[in-house]
Amino acid sequence: SHGVFTYDPGFMATGSCESAITYIDGDAGVLLHRGYPIAQLAEHSDYLETCYLLLYGELPNAEQKAEFIKTVKNHTMVSESMQKFLEGFRNDAHPMAIMVGLVSALSAFYQDHMDINDPEHREIAAFRLISKMPTLASMCYKYSKGQPTMYPRNDLSYAENFLYMMFATPCEEYKVNPVFANAMDKIFVLHADHEQNASTSTVRLAGSSGANPFACISAGITTLWGPAHGGANEAVLTMLEEIGDVSRIDEFIEKAKDKNDPFRLMGFGHRVYKNFDPRAKVMRETCDQVLAELGQANDPLLKIAKRLEQIALEDPYFVERKLYPNVDFYSGIIMKAIGIPTSMFTVIFAMSRTIGWISHWNEMISSPYKIGRPRQLYVGETERDFPTEK
Ligand code: SDX
Repeated sequence: SHGVFTYDPGFMATGSCESAITYIDGDAGVLLHRGYPIAQLAEHSDYLETCYLLLYGELPNAEQKAEFIKTVKNHTMVSESMQKFLEGFRNDAHPMAIMVGLVSALSAFYQDHMDINDPEHREIAAFRLISKMPTLASMCYKYSKGQPTMYPRNDLSYAENFLYMMFATPCEEYKVNPVFANAMDKIFVLHADHEQNASTSTVRLAGSSGANPFACISAGITTLWGPAHGGANEAVLTMLEEIGDVSRIDEFIEKAKDKNDPFRLMGFGHRVYKNFDPRAKVMRETCDQVLAELGQANDPLLKIAKRLEQIALEDPYFVERKLYPNVDFYSGIIMKAIGIPTSMFTVIFAMSRTIGWISHWNEMISSPYKIGRPRQLYVGETERDFPTEK
C-alpha cells in the first residue's frame, strides 16, 4: 500500500538496511557505537580508538591501538600532484567544493590495484582515508590563505597534527594548544558516525554499485555539505552572528515559526531525535569548558546560543514539535574559539564522519549485498497514446 515499505534484508531496495555499527533511539535520545554510549566514548576514548571500534567492532587493547595509530601515521602524506589539483581551484572556492574534488581524485591514484572484494584492500582504503582527510582539509585552508601547505607531523597526535597543519607556518616554531587539541579530538569523536543519515546512506548506495570507495566517500562529502545536514554547523554560526544580541532572539524565533518564511532555527531539530541529541549535551559541556579555559566564558555568541536554547525549549511551537538542539548547535562556537573559520566547519565534520562512512561501506561490501534501488510511489500520468493527428 502507499508508503508502506517492506523490509528487504538485501540492501536499500526499499530504503532500509541491516547494520551493527550504530544504534539510535530518537525518542530516548540514545546513541551507541558498537554498544558503547556516545557520552562514555567522548569522556574515556579518543578519535583513533573510536575509529578502531567503528571499523572492527571492538575496542582495541593497548598493542592493537598502538599498531593502528602507527599504520594511520604511515599514510598521512598525499601525492605531491594533489597540490597541482588544488591549484586548479580559485582561492575563494568553498573548501567543501575542493574536498569533493580532492577526495574523488584519490580514486584515480588507487583504482588500478583496488579489489574491493579483498578485505586487505578495503582496510588499506580505510587507513588512507582516515589518514589523508586532515592533510587534504588543511591543504584547503592553507590554499585559501595563500600560505604554503604544511606537511603532516607523525610525532603529533591526530588532533594536534591537524591543528598544526592548519595553523603552523614554515617561518617559526608552532606549539599546538592542548586545550584546542582535546576539544578538536572530542568534536571528532562526536561526529564519527550516526547510523543511516543522508550522507552515510549516499555512501552505501554509491558503494552498492561496486564503485571505488574514494569516489563513494566523495559522494558522502557532497551530501553532508547541505545546510539541512552537516552544513548546519556553519549555518548556526552565521545565524548567531546575524542575531547579534539576545534582545533580537524573539524576532528570529518568530521567523522560524512562520511557515511563509524559509528560515529555520539552525542547529535545532532532527530527522530521528525527538529528544535531546546526546551529542549536543557533550558539545555544550565541551563548549563551556573550552571557553572557560580561554577566559571567554562570556563570549557573546555563547550567551545568545544558551538564551536561544532556553527560549526554544520553553516555546510551545518547538516543544510540540520536539525540536531540540542537535550536534551542530554548539560545535561551531567551539571551533570559532579555536580559530577555525566557519567555512571549514563542515570540512571538519566530513573529516570526522569519514570513519563512519568507510565503516558502513566496509560492512556492506564484506557481506553479500545487492545494488541499492530505492522504490517510489508513482503519482504521474497513467498510460496514454501519443497524439498522431496534429
Ligand atoms: C545533522 O540524520 C542525521 O543523523 C544527521 C546528523 C548526523 O550526525 O549525520 O545528525 C547531522 O544533519 C543534524 C541536523 C542539522 N540540521 C539543522 O540543524 C538544520 C535545521 N534543522 C531543520 O532543517 C530540520 O530540523 C531537519 C532538516 C534537521 C529535520 O527536518 P524535518 O525532518 O522536516 O523535521 P521534522 O519532520 O521533525 O519537522 C517537524 C516540524 C515541521 O513543522 P510542521 O510541518 O510540523 O508545522 O518542525 C519544523 C518543521 O517545519 N521544524 C523546524 C525546524 N526543524 C523542524 N522549525 C523551525 N526550525 C527548525 N530547525
